[in-house]
Amino acid sequence: MNAQPLDHAIEDKVQALLSQMTLEEKVGQMTQIDVSVVTVPNGQDVDQPFDMSKLEDALFNHHVGSILNAPSTPNNRAQPIEKWRSMTQTIRSMAEKSRLKIPVIYGVDAIHGATYTDQSVLFPQAINMAATFNRDLSFKEGEIAAREVKASGIDWNFSPVMDIGRQPLWPRLWETYGEDVHLASSLGSAFIQGHQGDDASAADKAPTCLKHYVGYSFPINGKDRTPAWIGERMLREYFLPSFEAGIKAGAPTIMVNSAEVDGIPGHANYQYLTTILRGELGFTGFTVSDWEDIIRLYTRDKLAASPREAVKIAVMAGVDMSMVPFNFSFYDLLLDLARSGEVPVSRIDEAVTRILRVKYQTGLFQRTEPDIAVAGHFATKEAVAINRQAAQESIVLAKNDQHLLPLSKKASILVTGPTANLLSVMNGGWTLTWQGDNEQLYPKDKLTLFKAIQQKTSGKVTYVGGNSYQEEINIEQAVNEARKHDVVVLALGENTYTETSGNIETLNLPFPQLQLAKAIFATGKPVVLVTFGGRPRIITEIAEQANAVVLGFLPGMEGGVAMADILFGDVNPSAKLPISYPRNTNDIVLYDHKPIESYETNQYKPLYPFGHGLSYTQFETTGLRLSHEQIKLGEGIEVSVEVKNTGKITGKEAVLVYLNDVAASVTRPSKQLKAYAKVELKAGETQTLSFELPAEAMSFIGVDMKRRIEPGEFKVMVGNQTVSFTVN
Ligand code: GLC
Repeated sequence: MNAQPLDHAIEDKVQALLSQMTLEEKVGQMTQIDVSVVTVPNGQDVDQPFDMSKLEDALFNHHVGSILNAPSTPNNRAQPIEKWRSMTQTIRSMAEKSRLKIPVIYGVDAIHGATYTDQSVLFPQAINMAATFNRDLSFKEGEIAAREVKASGIDWNFSPVMDIGRQPLWPRLWETYGEDVHLASSLGSAFIQGHQGDDASAADKAPTCLKHYVGYSFPINGKDRTPAWIGERMLREYFLPSFEAGIKAGAPTIMVNSAEVDGIPGHANYQYLTTILRGELGFTGFTVSDWEDIIRLYTRDKLAASPREAVKIAVMAGVDMSMVPFNFSFYDLLLDLARSGEVPVSRIDEAVTRILRVKYQTGLFQRTEPDIAVAGHFATKEAVAINRQAAQESIVLAKNDQHLLPLSKKASILVTGPTANLLSVMNGGWTLTWQGDNEQLYPKDKLTLFKAIQQKTSGKVTYVGGNSYQEEINIEQAVNEARKHDVVVLALGENTYTETSGNIETLNLPFPQLQLAKAIFATGKPVVLVTFGGRPRIITEIAEQANAVVLGFLPGMEGGVAMADILFGDVNPSAKLPISYPRNTNDIVLYDHKPIESYETNQYKPLYPFGHGLSYTQFETTGLRLSHEQIKLGEGIEVSVEVKNTGKITGKEAVLVYLNDVAASVTRPSKQLKAYAKVELKAGETQTLSFELPAEAMSFIGVDMKRRIEPGEFKVMVGNQTVSFTVN
């Protein structure tokens, strides 16, 4: 299946160039290094960070095809956009002097905007974008991320994460679009379409990178980079489809899973990387390893007997480019393997063909300077407004007893808790630095939750807390202040992290937060519980005592003002959970569970279910109708439903369409999301929504591991309505 048809004009150019290349130049194209290899120590502190002799050596002697990350030692640090433009121009100009003038493709993890460019527009993280159930916002995020990456002079974005988030302990859950395949596939595809447009070589567009292929997000013990045990049916039902969707959406690069599935490291898995990715999914771009993961086949996985064998295993499995990243070992070893014939030159030609193809597709050969100006394309007011809307639509109102919310702007408010007065806790990892935890680097003009509340109200607002997440909060002082105020906004949750740094041993909240909450509740004051963080930490006891619960997760740089917009009713919340929010740390059952998981004492009883989210108004869905009572195998079906705003104020509502295959030769989930749409309705307004469920929606992976549809009864569920139809 060729999901990505080739452009013959580009193919001709690729082959013409390939035929001129030496073996060294080919192997160089497959080599990606971290920018620190070619910069002076502490390059983050100087205007011109390159060590020019090292840069020349990399480009002229090792013919490096790609460079990644931001200058700094040891980890990335955000740089001014002018410095980025100058840096990438230096590389571009030097590549122009190489024998064949093959451009270097420069990549960064702009996973919620241009991560390492100062003042960039940094969106809610993917888990929040999923909570918006708003494709249009995901498309716009892609447009803005691409524009700001390109305005920085950078070429390539290691995003979106298409991993499915089904393990709440995993420290990268927040980088995913949540637990549902359809939601992740549709929002990830919208991001790619916005980011690449119809022509990825356009000045304000850039290539994306699906990651981390495949099965990285489901470590059985919840810790990052530990084994996943995923059978073929689960792989094909839950973990491949979002990558298939991303490939169909035109993503030209794929980053490989850093961990292992069924005992085979992602970088050694020929079946995943070649048989399935190329043979079944028709991917024609190139794969890039994750960080140092070829070397780790030897140093960590003990799969390869030597670094040389590790290179051979990975390249022959289907890895086209190595994120080495700190030296030229891959270059040297692969050259040696090619000269000895252990890696056929045909395999190297195949990898280089794919890399050159993407470089031509994305216009790199035509690019002689940063493609777009900063003015009008970077940190524009319009982009910031879209970011604020995304944050507003990504924050989940989970509980609102006695309609405590929205708060009066005259109320006196105590704001306390470890996430109340920090920007980092609302942005998470990949924000200005790798771990996102350098609060001093955050823009001074963006507001924390406390400052946003203070700015919005005329009432007395007091903050009790520290200047960092770790700082102990004076509980006695918080209690005394609580007694003097009308209401308490208690902001709890997680610090920032990503990857193995974010591994934890329990989903429970840290004990000091529980103590603070207990003391605040004892005052008898009404409490709004606000949480920020990348994972659903267990808040059950606290949520039961709070009058209102607002789940912020990681709403990005506008998160503070967006949360305040919601707390005071300037915005009516509309987000819905893209994950099941667990009631207890070991009660991890997901919404699309199997019948056996909700049989007798087994029950799906999260604190808040997938799709849960309240509004300040009310909505009702009625009149669920299907285009047919019966359809033939292979036919689709149309669903229509009325949605009405039965409350008193305008609101937005995501209408979710679920399907259940009542009986099949493989057990089927109790329900699966198959379509959704978000509408804005005035008080009293009704809209009729129509959804097309294609035949594929009724399909599943059969006993023979092939996708199939079986005759029988199906149920369509929207809100509290269910209508059946039969496939004959
Ligand atoms: C990291 C991450 C990956 C990222 C890459 C480059 O290890 O796993 O998501 O794109 O390295 O920063």
